[in-house]
Amino acid sequence: MQPYLPGKPIDEVKRELGLDRVVKLASNENPFGPSPKAIEAVKEAAEKMHIYPDGAAHDLKQAVSKHIGLPVSNLIMGNGSDELIHLIGLVFLGSDQDEMIVGDPSFSRYDAATQIGPSKLTKVPLDADYRHDLVAMSKAVTANTKLIFIANPNNPTGTIVRKAEFDRFLDSVPSHIAIVLDEAYFEFSEGAEDFPSARDYVAAGKNVIGLRTFSKAYGLAGIRIGYGFGPAEVIDAINRVREPFNANSLAQVAAIAALDDAEHVQKTVQNNKEGLEFLASVFTSVGAKPLESYANFMYADLGRPAQPVFQALLEQGVITRSGHALGNPACLRVSVGTKEEMEIFAEQLKNVLKMETA
Ligand SMILES: Cc1ncc(COP(=O)(O)O)c(C=O)c1O
Repeated sequence: MQPYLPGKPIDEVKRELGLDRVVKLASNENPFGPSPKAIEAVKEAAEKMHIYPDGAAHDLKQAVSKHIGLPVSNLIMGNGSDELIHLIGLVFLGSDQDEMIVGDPSFSRYDAATQIGPSKLTKVPLDADYRHDLVAMSKAVTANTKLIFIANPNNPTGTIVRKAEFDRFLDSVPSHIAIVLDEAYFEFSEGAEDFPSARDYVAAGKNVIGLRTFSKAYGLAGIRIGYGFGPAEVIDAINRVREPFNANSLAQVAAIAALDDAEHVQKTVQNNKEGLEFLASVFTSVGAKPLESYANFMYADLGRPAQPVFQALLEQGVITRSGHALGNPACLRVSVGTKEEMEIFAEQLKNVLKMETA
């Protein structure tokens, strides 16, 4: 089993390289931080942190139910959506006969969900446009397939699958197989033409599990809270294997407050739109090929090994993610930051590439 390789923490880079200014564009966090309402809610709740959380997360589930338009019986909260990925693996996979299908490259925590047991992992390469190849994924289904994960938008590519192709895929896969649509970046892709929202499939009674998180657009990555939604009997099964207090009390109130601050999300999404346009122009200007992104990061083919570029950027105090670790050695993944952070990245990328060619 491969250990998870997170984006490098700012303090570690400062310490190791002796730098004062470090910009982290590696973990798709919210550059504006959390909503001020969430900060207030956490301060207030901190006084009660000697009390166990509400294990049923009643108030948060009510708020999410209203937000997403699904009954509470279809909802489950997690210690980040990472935890829900893990729990879904525990529920659906057990024997060495069971199989799970994922795209390649996609989010590495899916792989980990099979690697904790003896089950088989089938990785289906993305297509030539770095999109999930749903036809090939459907062909990879066998009598033993139990679970399929699709990140939509995908991490690390930022690409999406469209409604028409997902509908065809759903029709082609036997209905006892659970299909997870991981919408960690939903708020950034919402409104994209022909986007297949997991919520609509769950509402229609399909065997689809949606995952969303408060870590990205809502800016709560550090406190750990995400949610899943799916058929009531699937949610009931996941509920049985989770730890009783998996969603901590501070995270629950932070998430309720964050949901109540639509303005903060709007500001984040608007900055993201502008940041993606800027990043696309920067990458194009240096001869790289950026992919069209529906998330809060951009993946670009540099046309050369990305690892030395990643390393040189790091030495200049800019933390990105090298495709070397993500499955495409010529690609670099960069999160959208503030305008100032984007300018610093642009300047340093140009410097680094100039140094490389000199
Ligand atoms: C596709 C995808 N799913 C899930 C997660 C995990 O998010 P969380 O912070 O909610 O555990 C991430 C985080 O990067 C992600 O990219």
